[in-house]
Amino acid sequence: MQKLLIIAGTRPECIKLAPLYLAAKQSPHFKCRFLSTGQHRQMLDKALADFAITPDDDLALMRAGQTLGSLSGALFSALDQYFEKHQPDIVVVQGDTTTALVGGVAAFYRGIKVAHVEAGLRTNTIHEPFPEEFNRRVLSLVADYHFAPTTLARDHLLREGVSANNITTCGNTGIDALLLTVQKVRNNESLLAHPIQLFLESFPQYVLVTVHRRENHGDGINSICAALKQLAEQYPQLGFILPVHMNPNVKDVVESNLSGLGNVLLTGPLDYQPFVKLMSSCHFLLTDSGGVQEEAPSLGKPILVLRHVTERPEGIAAGCAKLLGNNTENIVSEVNHLLSDMGAYKAMAQAKNPYGDGTASQQILQVLANGDRAAS
Ligand code: UD1
Ligand code: UDP
Repeated sequence: MQKLLIIAGTRPECIKLAPLYLAAKQSPHFKCRFLSTGQHRQMLDKALADFAITPDDDLALMRAGQTLGSLSGALFSALDQYFEKHQPDIVVVQGDTTTALVGGVAAFYRGIKVAHVEAGLRTNTIHEPFPEEFNRRVLSLVADYHFAPTTLARDHLLREGVSANNITTCGNTGIDALLLTVQKVRNNESLLAHPIQLFLESFPQYVLVTVHRRENHGDGINSICAALKQLAEQYPQLGFILPVHMNPNVKDVVESNLSGLGNVLLTGPLDYQPFVKLMSSCHFLLTDSGGVQEEAPSLGKPILVLRHVTERPEGIAAGCAKLLGNNTENIVSEVNHLLSDMGAYKAMAQAKNPYGDGTASQQILQVLANGDRAAS
């Protein structure tokens, strides 16, 4: 039996590693532990609860207003001690967060094998998304197993000299989580909190919005809020629902710009299940989230991406997503277009999801169990 240590610190890592962890717990090949670094607190706890996961250990590292350096320092020290104590055979990290970066590098320092889930995503600039693009590039240097969600991600890794034997193209585990969850939420109306249910009675057609990326902090979020305000005034029958990220650089700005508009509902971050329910019945999404860009196409929802560059161009190539940036006029104009041109809307809604078929976790476990480095 191999000792598998799954490490997650933020909401998206938890959501995307949950199906893998739940499957690994059932497997005779692994003795599996789930370690929360607590890079996030409330938002991580919500995601853990959605999948009924109780971490084996929690490093509880989040500090209000933490910097990348302070969090990384705390992670290096705590993870090194943890590895010393538990001696895992394989450390599994996901994506591009500070938790993933330090989890991978600290394991590499100790000669522990590193499995990187969601490997090979790239933009053409190390500054966007910041610091995630740096994090994921470093992880590709230290990983032994590279689980690429798409052939494009695989090609990036090959171009950087990663051996094909060490890459598995398997789809994104986020789609595994989504497909598991869509079933559960479909007929469960009580999942939505009362204020959301009331809002939906008045605004059955609504746009779901999320924004949190560091590149948008400051002028970017102000500009996005200005667009939302203009659109809310222009379309008084259309609702706008924003579950607001807890990062103070986001929360304070969004609340001060958008509170008090009748057709704009600001909520705290939502549990994953109600969020999936809202995604599946919204008209379309405006987002700068990575995970949401992957999920919406499986639900047949157009996505307008509030970024200048994306490491997920597959959705754009497939026609499900459009890259808008954060300029107010541009956002307003693209939303006007989507609301007025049914043909354009249908084309985006019907484009095929390029991010996986819900079997990524099973494929990953098969590779790790065989000790192979690649399956495809
Ligand atoms: C992090 C990730 C980002 C990911 C995002 C998911 C890095 C570098 N960034 O960004 O890739 O998209 O998580 O949401 O790892 N906070 C709370 N409670 C929470 C979570 C956050 O209060 O549950 C506040 C704290 O003040 C915290 C701050 O948000 O210090 C920033 O959190 P941090 O994890 O450093 O960055 P994110 O912007 O969340
Ligand atoms: N999500 C959620 N509640 C919310 C907003 C998003 O559960 O209020 C989920 C979403 O479905 C996706 C993940 O959180 O699975 C994305 O996380 P986030 O946008 O914070 O990070 P990113 O994907 O950009 O790294």
